[in-house]
Amino acid sequence: MIDEKTHSAVVLKRLDLSNFRNYSVLHLDIDSGPIVLTGANGAGKTNLLEAISMLMAGRGMRGAGFEVLLAKNSPVPQWAVSALVDGPFGPVRLGTSWQLPDNGTGTSRLGGRIASLDGDATVGIGALAQHIRLIWLTPSMDRLFSGPGGDRRRFLDRVVSVTDLAHSRAISAFEKLMRQRNSLLAEADYDAVWVSTIEKQMAAQAVAIAAARLASIDTLQGHIDAAQARDKARGKVSIFPAARLILQGSVEALLRDNPAVQCEDEYAKILFDSRALDQAAGRTLNGPHRSDLMVLHAEKDMEARACSTGEQKALLVGLILAQARMVKSQFQGRMPVLLLDEIAAHLDKDRRKGLFDELLATGGQCWLTGTDTMQFETLQTKAQFFTVKDGIVSPQH
Ligand SMILES: Nc1ncnc2c1ncn2[C@@H]1O[C@H](COP(=O)(O)OP(=O)(O)OP(=O)(O)O)[C@@H](O)[C@H]1O
Ligand SMILES: [Mg+2]
Repeated sequence: MIDEKTHSAVVLKRLDLSNFRNYSVLHLDIDSGPIVLTGANGAGKTNLLEAISMLMAGRGMRGAGFEVLLAKNSPVPQWAVSALVDGPFGPVRLGTSWQLPDNGTGTSRLGGRIASLDGDATVGIGALAQHIRLIWLTPSMDRLFSGPGGDRRRFLDRVVSVTDLAHSRAISAFEKLMRQRNSLLAEADYDAVWVSTIEKQMAAQAVAIAAARLASIDTLQGHIDAAQARDKARGKVSIFPAARLILQGSVEALLRDNPAVQCEDEYAKILFDSRALDQAAGRTLNGPHRSDLMVLHAEKDMEARACSTGEQKALLVGLILAQARMVKSQFQGRMPVLLLDEIAAHLDKDRRKGLFDELLATGGQCWLTGTDTMQFETLQTKAQFFTVKDGIVSPQH
């Protein structure tokens, strides 16, 4: 019998690591549904989730350099992560590895790693996205609403990138052009024609970035509102409060009211007009690299940053669950894999239970970590429990 729930989720069936942080080797067989990893501080719980997060483009869940991931005292200068994944196209073996360059400097160029798909190592890391999508929530994101705007912008861009694979490329292209413009403007007698050419290219990328952000945020808001309406119709009080998302940014604002071509012209003109200011500041003062995502607690009509620690965490969990539903709707109906590090922290008993119920209802595979098995008591018969100790993972019976 086909299990409908299992069938509608991306599932890691096996995970193999070598020389990845504090894992010299790991071979782990797993099923669909929740996986709970418990163990003392420093055991290797976050490292394991981070290893899984390397199966997507980018620097993974901690944003660390690739050289940092190589196990200390590794006998070979290479780490590797490999997983048997059941995704929209059936079971495939996905892998990624990174080798210390010969000169030993360990420069962490993003292009320096290798990806493989069923043993074919000629594919790029982007090719793995056909088979897997991952969403994570880490303890450092607890400060997302109160911390610097750059963190929220990166969160926003990750939300966009999980479904819009061209988005990261547009951001990299924009940043590269911006660096070129900044260094040209640093010269007193810069070539104005050249700067104009770069500004026009920047404008095209900026509008693409802003358009992708607006589209994703609108879709995400749609999923948040739909869940809220569903709960209301059932007379259920939502454990995770609904968020209202407001995208703040100059190009995004232009794009709300004007056609894309006109926005490109307007932003290119803004850049042209601000050359003297930007030259004095030594950077580009206006653009999509300054945008921010404002999050409001919808029911309270209050900025998330003004909410309590627990309320902020609940808002964040609600956002992540809505994002998961969004990804599912755009990934052939497959739930993405969720990596929820120290998820129980700051959540009271009811919210913890509410989260676990929601996770079970999605039928997706989610990886949960914590120091204490008691935090996951209500999952006792419904999840696979593992103990992690010094980079060794053992099933709990
Ligand atoms: N490159 C590396 N080689 C070997 N060990 C490493 C490497 N990088 C980090 N570690 C170690 O891995 C250990 C486990 O880290 P990890 O963050 O996974 O712990 P954790 O189980 O999540 O703990 P906590 O409960 O405190 O979050 C740490 O002691 C850390 O020092
Ligand atoms: Mg940890």
